[in-house]
Amino acid sequence: MGRNCTSLSDCSASPGRRRIQHCRKRTAQKTFDIPAEDITIPTDEAAVARGEHLADILCTGCHAEDLSGKVFVDEPAIVTIHTANITGLAKTHTDADLIRAIRHAVDTDGRRLTIMPAEVFVNFSAEDLGAIITYLKSLPSVGEERPIPKLTFAGRILLASGGGRTDISGGSDRPQPTLS
Ligand code: HEC
Repeated sequence: MGRNCTSLSDCSASPGRRRIQHCRKRTAQKTFDIPAEDITIPTDEAAVARGEHLADILCTGCHAEDLSGKVFVDEPAIVTIHTANITGLAKTHTDADLIRAIRHAVDTDGRRLTIMPAEVFVNFSAEDLGAIITYLKSLPSVGEERPIPKLTFAGRILLASGGGRTDISGGSDRPQPTLS
């Protein structure tokens, strides 16, 4: 069995229907091993204020005003997706875990985070990412832990086709995100 297969073309399972099923399962469960990135996390007031500003324009639209997470996609027949409670996670995650989640949308188990828009955050400067992290860590832990999304096959197709993408600015009355 092709234990490490990541796509149909490099799958070593026998061809045909079995191979398609095998690979579908494998690719759905694919994990990512992102090397830990070490950046200096500033602790001065200016950095915390910068982090708050960035989190307010870039994170609260999905993770709720107080960053405790919310029901983000509510289609019970297909999928229910909560955004994570970052205030709680910032207390238990290491800096490297937070960097991996924000920059690469991969959790501590190597799981690809659903919807987390790493393509927007991958190019954060070390200063901006450090500012966001120091701000997140300064917040009191509020609210409940949020469940990891359980995607049905239909849910995966919906997400893969872009159905889960949403305006990250949090509504038409809010400005589009900028890094200024
Ligand atoms: C478009 C919506 C969206 C935006 C914008 C967004 N997130 Fe997320 N984020 C999610 C969702 C959905 C999850 C939960 C995904 C999952 O568990 O599969 C998540 C999960 C996380 C996690 C949990 C990681 C873990 O280990 O479980 C962290 C930390 C996080 N986001 C931080 C941030 C920060 C910081 C920002 C702003 C810079 C941000 N997110 C912006 C949707 C978003």
